[in-house]
Amino acid sequence: MEKMNKAGRRPQNMAKTLKRLMTYLWRNKFQLGIVVVALIISTVASVAGTYFIRPLINDFVASKDVNGLLRMIGLIVLIYMCGVCASYFSVRLMVVIGQKTIKTIRMELFDHIQKLPIRFFDTHKHGDLMSRFTNDFDNIQNAFNNSLLMLLTSALQLVLTFIMMLILSPLLTIMIVIMLAIMMYIVKFVGSRSAKYFGMQQKTLGKVNGYIEEHIEGQKVIKVFNHEQKVLEEFEELNQELNRSAQKAQFYANTMFPILGNISYVNYALTATVGGYLVISGMMDVGALASFLQFSRTFAQPLAQISQQSNVLLAALAGAERIFSILDEHPEVDEGKVSLDQSDEDQWYWLKDDNRIPVVGKIILEHVDFGYTKDVNILKDINVWAEPGLKIAFVGATGAGKTTITNLINRFYEIDAGTITFDGIPITQIKKEDLRRTISIVLQDTHLFTGTIADNIRYGRLNASDDEVVQAAKLANAHSFIKRLPEGYRTVITGDGEGLSQGQRQLLAIARAAVANPKVLILDEATSSIDSHTEGLISQGMDQLMYGRTSFVIAHRLSTIRNADVIMVMDHGEIIERGNHEDLMANQGMYYKLYTGQIELD
Ligand SMILES: Nc1ncnc2c1ncn2[C@@H]1O[C@H](COP(=O)(O)OP(=O)(O)OP(=O)(O)O)[C@@H](O)[C@H]1O
Ligand SMILES: [Mg+2]
Repeated sequence: MEKMNKAGRRPQNMAKTLKRLMTYLWRNKFQLGIVVVALIISTVASVAGTYFIRPLINDFVASKDVNGLLRMIGLIVLIYMCGVCASYFSVRLMVVIGQKTIKTIRMELFDHIQKLPIRFFDTHKHGDLMSRFTNDFDNIQNAFNNSLLMLLTSALQLVLTFIMMLILSPLLTIMIVIMLAIMMYIVKFVGSRSAKYFGMQQKTLGKVNGYIEEHIEGQKVIKVFNHEQKVLEEFEELNQELNRSAQKAQFYANTMFPILGNISYVNYALTATVGGYLVISGMMDVGALASFLQFSRTFAQPLAQISQQSNVLLAALAGAERIFSILDEHPEVDEGKVSLDQSDEDQWYWLKDDNRIPVVGKIILEHVDFGYTKDVNILKDINVWAEPGLKIAFVGATGAGKTTITNLINRFYEIDAGTITFDGIPITQIKKEDLRRTISIVLQDTHLFTGTIADNIRYGRLNASDDEVVQAAKLANAHSFIKRLPEGYRTVITGDGEGLSQGQRQLLAIARAAVANPKVLILDEATSSIDSHTEGLISQGMDQLMYGRTSFVIAHRLSTIRNADVIMVMDHGEIIERGNHEDLMANQGMYYKLYTGQIELD
């Protein structure tokens, strides 16, 4: 049967994934051992209970021995009770093991993701990553909670039942097996159909969900362009498609299988008839027949269970495989040896081979080439020289490579050729953590975390005092708007700063950089247009913050960088002009054209 799991995916390497998943479970091997023992007890008890029907009938019912009968029934009840208890115990314990294992893997995954390089995040969809934590873990959880136990129980039950049936009557057993084989064939046929329709259902469901997600997120755009009616029509069509495939899938699941279930009663009647004949002709005793009939009824159950639960297990394995594939991603490597000595608050030092080099903030890029992929070169022969007190500005059309330069200074990506040095030390020799501690970047897209305003500013340096947070906000010109918020610095922001304007978010980001008190400051100005008042606040805040530091400013508004010491004009990954505002204006090149509005930036 083509096995369709929830997500319609199959694990690629089942054995390997299963083994790896098991090593996690195996960490609780003691508890796991108890589960297996409990499971064996419960299965054996249920089989034994059924078998004891035979002596019950033969020895006590036939001889009308009421006391013996009651004793026997008591014994059977006792056995069943043991089984129930053991089963309850194994389920309870398995839940504990399963949840513990999931907790471990979830922690490992999150921890690993923190260590992955930016390249990984730039090349993987965020939604995809999220679904590892949601869907994939759900699938594993399903398997751990139920399927694993059921599979083991069913397998054991199948074997034991088969043996008991053979003992009771080999002839009837062969008959049952043949009938079952025929039924299985039918089930297989129906199953492959149903799998097909389930697959279709899943696919359309995916489409519908994707459509809903996209259009809920895009509500604003839909409204802006009056697309409501069209969206509705498209959805109607998708919804109809889902309805069709779901109907077919559910028809098989809810109609065909129950019908097959009824056919099994025919089997039962047939077995009873043949068995009855065997008893009459003296080839079998009545007790054996009663017990056998009971076994034959339950024989198919474990088979159905196995096929059902193996689907759940497959889904779990597919999920686990996807999780493991992320765990196998190589974490960001850091071969840097040079570390930062911050023991003296006023003067930081680089520790390089027992030498203490004062941290100044001199950054030099020489002949830097870089491409995100091997075949596309983004930056070509970039040379930049920067030291404290200098404000270096980058301007250029969108996609020119401005943000890319900052990605390199911060070592989010490694350069392909050339050198970047920090105070004369190649940045590849500096521990990434320490390098990033000396450089603050106000990213082009501000990200705020759920928490108070103060928490978000303090993100720049976790041990900053309340006073330092306020100072930083003042420096960044964020103080006045924060004060006007209902709870001031304690205002809680959620969902990436909803309710704050773009400009306010950027001011917070600048305050965050300010509190870190970095040697080197990089501001990647947000592209979105903000009002000229806020713009004034931002550039004023930036200028205050830049004082005495090495600063790089990427500007979309030329007004913010007029006062820069050097302006680098970038075009297609190259610096085509450099100089201060006056030089460049006199030069009458690209900058001049940009400034006088002869060409537009974005
Ligand atoms: N993560 C990435 N992977 C591959 N290519 C990228 C990546 N980030 C940027 N690029 C490409 O590198 C080039 C430079 O991009 P970059 O972000 O540096 O431009 P920019 O000058 O900052 O533009 P903007 O003014 O729009 O911010 C673009 O062609 C872009 O498509
Ligand atoms: Mg950019």
